[in-house]
Amino acid sequence: MTSDAPVWPVVKRLFGEHAREYIPRYAVAFFFMAIVAGSTALTAWLMRDVINDVFVKQDRQALTWLPLVIAGLFMAKGFAAYIQEVLLSRIGNQIVAHMQKRLYDHMLRMDVKFFQERSSGELITRMSTNAQAAREMMNLLAVGLGRDLLTVISLFVVMALQDPLLSCVLIVVGPGAAYGMRQLSRRVKKVAGSEVNSMIQVVSTMRETTQGIRIIKSFQLEDKMREQMAACIEAVQRLNNKMVAVKARVNPLLEAAAGLAIAAAVAYAGWRTISHGQSPGEFFAFIAALLMAGEPLRRLSRLQLQLVTCAVQIKMLYDVLDTPAVEAEAQAKPQLVVRRGEVRFDKTSFAYTDNTPVLNELSFTAPAGKTTALVGLSGSGKTTVFNLLQDLWRPSSGAIYIDNQSIADVSLSSLRRQMALVSQDVFMFEGTVRENLVGALKDVSEDAVIAAARAAHADEFIRRLPQGYDTPVGELGGRLSGGQRQRLSIARAFLKDAPIILLDEPTSALDSETERIIQTALQSLTGGRTTIVIAHRLATVAQADVIHVLDQGRVVESGNQAELLRRDGRYARLHRLQFGDLAAQS
Ligand SMILES: Nc1ncnc2c1ncn2[C@@H]1O[C@H](COP(=O)(O)OP(=O)(O)OP(=O)(O)O)[C@@H](O)[C@H]1O
Ligand SMILES: [Mg+2]
Repeated sequence: MTSDAPVWPVVKRLFGEHAREYIPRYAVAFFFMAIVAGSTALTAWLMRDVINDVFVKQDRQALTWLPLVIAGLFMAKGFAAYIQEVLLSRIGNQIVAHMQKRLYDHMLRMDVKFFQERSSGELITRMSTNAQAAREMMNLLAVGLGRDLLTVISLFVVMALQDPLLSCVLIVVGPGAAYGMRQLSRRVKKVAGSEVNSMIQVVSTMRETTQGIRIIKSFQLEDKMREQMAACIEAVQRLNNKMVAVKARVNPLLEAAAGLAIAAAVAYAGWRTISHGQSPGEFFAFIAALLMAGEPLRRLSRLQLQLVTCAVQIKMLYDVLDTPAVEAEAQAKPQLVVRRGEVRFDKTSFAYTDNTPVLNELSFTAPAGKTTALVGLSGSGKTTVFNLLQDLWRPSSGAIYIDNQSIADVSLSSLRRQMALVSQDVFMFEGTVRENLVGALKDVSEDAVIAAARAAHADEFIRRLPQGYDTPVGELGGRLSGGQRQRLSIARAFLKDAPIILLDEPTSALDSETERIIQTALQSLTGGRTTIVIAHRLATVAQADVIHVLDQGRVVESGNQAELLRRDGRYARLHRLQFGDLAAQS
């Protein structure tokens, strides 16, 4: 075993986590493996009687019972192999299922940063390919150490009983083969790692293609995508070839060892039969055992290489599982209690990446039950304010309070339950309209769903869909128009009925009729609740009780529309810039 190969720690951990639970079932599987091994060894053993009784002594009685016993032994072996394989596969499948559930559960408790730092292709691969490796490793070990090792040992017992001296000679061949194997497993480990990484690229490109197919077509990116995909696929192919070549090097190594062993056996045993007149039966049983041991021995010697491949993959899975789940410990905190619903940012600073500050000691208050508008140029940090308020990201300094409770000190689930978000880009799950509206809410009546859809002016178009509320929205809501998705997201917020409403107005222009509809829908949603709205529309700003102007992560001006226009400062300029002619008309 190479010291740097992660095989044994991974095996130990995998067994530590899973084997105990499966010990009874493994025991049954081992029992049947022992039957396989035993019947193989017995067959070899019988060769002595076949040669000595049937051929040399020409015993007619032996001629009747020996074929029967041999046939029976093979049938028993086949039956035992069947049961053992089914048992092992079931255990393997259960382990994969368990690992996948555990991995997914763990991922859900990671924060947004975790997902931003990893490509979806990478995580998808962890979930599929790497989890499969866990099953493969358990099976390799069970079959390798169980069936093959048992078979080899029992065959060796047969050999030793027939000819102890010759058996000792054979053991000498072992260490040479083991050394060669050690060199090979180093290379396998290296190739296995790069192979997984190239596979991740393939998955990522595929995901990009399915989600961006419209852009790919309209910008005629097909050639670029084709090249990108071809490069990834060819990398996988190259690495696969390399892996096969490395693993196939086992063959010459093993055949040379096997040839030496058999040649030595033939020479020695032949010499004893010829010059010492020993009966040939023992020799045949010995050779039969040696030949039968060939296949399981080959598998055993490849075992290490396969284990290395699996270990590399399982290690990647454990790397994710070992990343601390940031959101897990936060759940143990006290509940957020919202009485009035005042939101206050207090000198909050934040950066997504270490060296580019996005918020600089940002302070502002969104009064309870009122509508507060955040305005500012694109990239000034408005959406970031929402991200921090929902504790999707954590500020580097400063604090955020809701009714004077710091959000860092309350449980995440209670915090997020108190807010309903209508975001800039609407996300829809694959599922029906109703499923998308209800989301995680429990015990929602049909009337409530329809009332929310009505309030969001969505009921009418939903009813016109082919299956009404049961119409599937398609992946990412692809079968709905932008304005329809927007209204569904407003209906979703209505249904959640939270005391704090966060609105990130879409920047994309809607036709004025739809915009008016959405505007009215929003007004009824926000009535009486604390609302923070990131405003891109003049009408929204005009209705706000307080306006905060953001610039480079700071509040540079605050007040209501009339006050700010009178001051003729940043807001007035922004107002002219952003709303132009519209402002002149109003
Ligand atoms: N997930 C992220 N990771 C790294 N940087 C980000 C991330 N999200 C936003 N940023 C950066 O943070 C800055 C503020 O982004 P933010 O989304 O808050 O802007 P915004 O005011 O909402 O703009 P817009 O009006 O265009 O929506 C931008 O410079 C942006 O590049
Ligand atoms: Mg934004």
